Amino acid sequence: MERDSVWAILSLSIVLLLQLSDVSCVKEKRIPVKISDPVVFTDEPKPFTVRVTKFICVETPYEESELLQCRTVLRRNRPTFFNISVHVPGVLNRIYFQVRTYYRYNSYEPFPITLLMEICSYFRKPTTDIFSRHLMSIMMEVVSHLLYQCPHGNTTYDAVYWLEDKFFPQSMPAGDFRQDVWFRTEHNRTIFAYQAYFSVRRMGIWRSMLEW
Ligand SMILES: *[C@@H]1O[C@H](CO)[C@@H](O)[C@H](O)[C@H]1NC(C)=O
Ligand SMILES: *[C@@H]1O[C@H](CO)[C@@H](O)[C@H](O)[C@H]1NC(C)=O
Ligand SMILES: *[C@@H]1O[C@H](CO)[C@@H](O)[C@H](O)[C@H]1NC(C)=O
Repeated sequence: MERDSVWAILSLSIVLLLQLSDVSCVKEKRIPVKISDPVVFTDEPKPFTVRVTKFICVETPYEESELLQCRTVLRRNRPTFFNISVHVPGVLNRIYFQVRTYYRYNSYEPFPITLLMEICSYFRKPTTDIFSRHLMSIMMEVVSHLLYQCPHGNTTYDAVYWLEDKFFPQSMPAGDFRQDVWFRTEHNRTIFAYQAYFSVRRMGIWRSMLEW
């Protein structure tokens, strides 16, 4: 698997956090996260399609939050929605974000995509490597208004999340995947965790030949 694909999969996971819509009435002053030179994603057709079959919230109930909604909404010929609502009473100045990915052969085998990062420090000072740039570009596109620096928490987050083909690189391998994602406090207690099951399907050969 190419580096690009790895970055894309990681990026798509972190989008969830940033897709969270703040529904509190009182807006505090928030310092936006800055990115320069973002990637521009186009709607040009890809030689594959990504289809999410389900999202599942795991490790419930949470000690650090209240899960108000966790729903997969399947839609004909359109991306599957993950509609969640999470109340987080505590103020968060450290949020650990962890991703593990599995590729299905006979069972789900570990895939060399693992990530463990602290989001608040990342937001304060986004790094400029290829992964970060890709990641931040997706966030800018879908949730720019939520790219604010910590503290987070002390609010109810509503999230509608989905995967779009355009965020994936051309080199995406076909197959079935499971991705496990956690958001944890500095005391390693789970704020929210989910699994996404998705498949990447190649288009027909005629279509692929046209790509040449
Ligand atoms: C929590 O949010 C409320 C309303 O947005 C705000 O007035 C309050 O200061 C916040 N509390 C903390 C501890 O940040
Ligand atoms: C998500 O769920 C909430 C509550 O059920 C609903 O009001 C909202 O319209 C849903 N959003 C989408 C995009 O389906
Ligand atoms: C945090 O909790 C997870 C799940 O319980 C565990 O696998 C992990 O080792 C813990 N990490 C630390 C640093 O304690």
